[in-house]
Amino acid sequence: MNLPDNPVLRQLFAHRSVRHYKSDPLPAGALEAGIAAASSGATSSNLQNWSVIAVEDQATRSRLAELSGGQSYVAQAPLFLAWVVDLSRLERITQREGASEAEALAYEESFLMATLDTGIAAQNAVLAFESLGLGTVYIGGLRNDPEAVASVLGLPSRTVAVVGMCVGHPAEDAAGGIKPRLGQDVVLHRERYDHESEEEPIDTYNQRADAYQQEQGLPSRRWTQTVASRIAQTRGLGGRHVMRDVLNRLGFPLR
Ligand SMILES: Cc1cc2nc3c(=O)[nH]c(=O)nc-3n(C[C@H](O)[C@H](O)[C@H](O)COP(=O)(O)O)c2cc1C
Repeated sequence: MNLPDNPVLRQLFAHRSVRHYKSDPLPAGALEAGIAAASSGATSSNLQNWSVIAVEDQATRSRLAELSGGQSYVAQAPLFLAWVVDLSRLERITQREGASEAEALAYEESFLMATLDTGIAAQNAVLAFESLGLGTVYIGGLRNDPEAVASVLGLPSRTVAVVGMCVGHPAEDAAGGIKPRLGQDVVLHRERYDHESEEEPIDTYNQRADAYQQEQGLPSRRWTQTVASRIAQTRGLGGRHVMRDVLNRLGFPLR
């Protein structure tokens, strides 16, 4: 496909997750540049309903690595960011403005909105870090036990760490090329949703994804098989099927 070319697009298309880091600290100002980029992202009604906890302390990173399913790079990367859906600040502000209730925060819509905004912020930070030559990987494993994470990070009610992020200098041997994605003939729908002819391009993607696996020395596997094994049964959620109850306990009634 003949796409336009510029430095921003080149950086976007070169994205890859990094799971092996040097121990070197981040360059001065890198964290702040990442967070400035996050803050520059669009945010629903300008509510700015997220927070981020920057964790450099080795013992805390090791604990978060355990809580994230033993993902060693959480302990290895010099910086770990916990991206937090933060409705608590909105509640405090509303109270200080003299309102006796913060009714809107009880609804699923508020949670959904804040989750979207948190993801937008986090991804802006990824791009900023990558522009500085740093590597990142998101850590969804941080949702394995959100209550324990809340306790480690001192999170108040009406907040939840929805995703983590390792940040650091990629190690020389940081494996992983650029992972292929589904083609636009699958993900791009023009005017109306149309899945009539998706099977063939998805099969083509299976072949590309498998070739990538083999290049990386990983077991040969069809991508669709991986999808199905994650989706077919509740256990594919890795124990996170209880999320609604967990969120309720963390102060999100999700009405
Ligand atoms: C919300 C989210 C959570 C993720 N959680 C993890 C994780 O816990 N551990 C991990 O190694 N990678 C995690 N990833 C990284 C994905 O596996 C990775 O982005 C995907 O395989 C595509 O590879 P790429 O980023 O190298 O292009 C996560 C990505 C996202 C967006």
